[in-house]
Amino acid sequence: MSLNSRIAQARAVIQPRLETPPQVALICGSGLGGLAEHIDAPVTINYEEIPHFKTVGAPGHKGRLVFGTFAGQQVVAMQGRLHGYEGNTAEEVVFPLRVMHALGARTLIVTNAAGGINTDFEVGDVMLIIDHINFTGMNPLTIGAEQELYRFPDMSHAYTSELRHKALAAAETCGMALRQGVYIGVRGPSFETPAEIRAFRVWGADAVGMSTVFEAITAASLGMEVLGLSLITNMAAGIFDAPLAGGEVLEVSEAISQKLECFMAKLFADL
Ligand code: HPA
Repeated sequence: MSLNSRIAQARAVIQPRLETPPQVALICGSGLGGLAEHIDAPVTINYEEIPHFKTVGAPGHKGRLVFGTFAGQQVVAMQGRLHGYEGNTAEEVVFPLRVMHALGARTLIVTNAAGGINTDFEVGDVMLIIDHINFTGMNPLTIGAEQELYRFPDMSHAYTSELRHKALAAAETCGMALRQGVYIGVRGPSFETPAEIRAFRVWGADAVGMSTVFEAITAASLGMEVLGLSLITNMAAGIFDAPLAGGEVLEVSEAISQKLECFMAKLFADL
């Protein structure tokens, strides 16, 4: 079945349950699913109910779409995203984004948990993604030639500068320091070696994580405006002499959740 037919089937199940189409899609990263709890008059649809949606396995990811209003915007939040490291292809990872776009979303706010590579960063910092390096070896636009889709998006302005300015203003209003930097996406799921992190630093990367680049590439190909945010949940391998475990993610997001909620509310109100 063609990609467009699969998107149409998924949309056909969702659309009758919505009164108003979403304008903004929010992809909640690890530990950041709580943002979706602030959506008013929510309509929740589990991934299992939607044709062609795969289920999620990452810790702290629920696996549902939440539709409703947030700070005056019609939003759809993905509470639980898919990852390449769960055995999903890049195309499968972005299928929900394609469906959210088909439902009406033209702006994407994508969040993630990441390791800090830039040694000026601290655990608990939030980084505005200004650009990315896709080091996964995969690309969501690698699909059979018979499928109709736009394959060659310009990535020079994938993370829209207008949205970045709005994010900086929202952060200032909420007293939240916002770092800016380059995100490098890796496939995982093992953490990086210290040698890899040193190499990534030389390449100009400030934070590393196992998501986001596929969604940003797809959004660019669909002409969507994109804002990317990384929550620095740990410093990357080799910076401190302590093993990386991944368990910190939920604690770190809990610690900054109030400022993040203020920031998100201001940001959405200004979209
Ligand atoms: N590396 C890769 N992905 C991550 C990390 C990390 O250090 N922290 C959170 N996600």
